[in-house]
Amino acid sequence: MTTSAVQLDAEGNLRHFLTLDGLSRTLLTEMLDRTEGFLSVARQAVKKVPLCRGKIVANLFFETSTRTRTTFELAAKRLSADVLNLNISTSATAKGETLLDTLRNLEAMHVDMFVVRHADSGAAHFIAAHADPHVAVINAGDGRHSHPTQGMLDMFTIRQHKGDFTHLCVAIVGDVLHSRVARSELSALRTLGAGEVRIIAPRTLIPVHAEALGARVFHDLREGVRDADVVIMLRLQRERMRGALLPSEHEYFQLFGLTEERLATAKPDAIVMHPGPINRGVEMDSQVADGPRSVILEQVSNGIAVRMAVMSMCIGTQNLRAAGQADG
Ligand code: CP
Repeated sequence: MTTSAVQLDAEGNLRHFLTLDGLSRTLLTEMLDRTEGFLSVARQAVKKVPLCRGKIVANLFFETSTRTRTTFELAAKRLSADVLNLNISTSATAKGETLLDTLRNLEAMHVDMFVVRHADSGAAHFIAAHADPHVAVINAGDGRHSHPTQGMLDMFTIRQHKGDFTHLCVAIVGDVLHSRVARSELSALRTLGAGEVRIIAPRTLIPVHAEALGARVFHDLREGVRDADVVIMLRLQRERMRGALLPSEHEYFQLFGLTEERLATAKPDAIVMHPGPINRGVEMDSQVADGPRSVILEQVSNGIAVRMAVMSMCIGTQNLRAAGQADG
């Protein structure tokens, strides 16, 4: 079964959230609209809504994370779900328990949702294929394959600042080859109908057939960001590199690091984004990262509302239906 078929139920509702590939513009737009509605929860005196009350969410992070893990936890708590954070280094996985045995044990505790980050591409899909039918699986980043909630929080941040996608020029700069974030962004930008998408990177960090991803390829930063509305910087993912793909980080910064001077060719109101973690002085200098065009911390805040939207679409609708039946 294809990943997109696994993600949707018979009525086309979201069952799992594993990748943005194959999801419709209507569904992505519904997710962005729902996110808009959840932003106000952060401004309430009691930052909670009851959509996932009585549900149990298990965060299974087999790889390091700061932003994704904490914002998933906050999102689940704001939806009134109970949250289990499995510490993999001190769990029975470290004693040799298989992934499937860990899942079966959590299912025996009546968990409703697994949020999974894993270094292997396809891990979340594997878990979705083997999970109990009532359990929803959300991909929080798998290898270099996909990071769909990051892709959607980036789309939400772009829409907040720029509105409609169809007239936008979006430049994605850096290590596209190893980036699950870039793959998710490219997929979402295609589906949402972005006017022009560009990839700017050294030849060694561009995937083969990059044009098939719907992007124009550049190797010169100033040219690549010329007249761009949005500039998305990517981290150099050393942990996924095999062999010497770059001479040095210093040389990379000289050619592909974003400075105010290199950003000058972009539109005057261009926004600068980065999924984090940032390597200051490698992908961008601090003047840009902390400057007036940077929306990097807005991305982090938006991550909570986007993840609330995704979780509520996967498991919150059951509570809504139950409430509707009780009212009726
Ligand atoms: N953007 C992102 O995935 O960051 P973390 O690795 O801190 O979760």
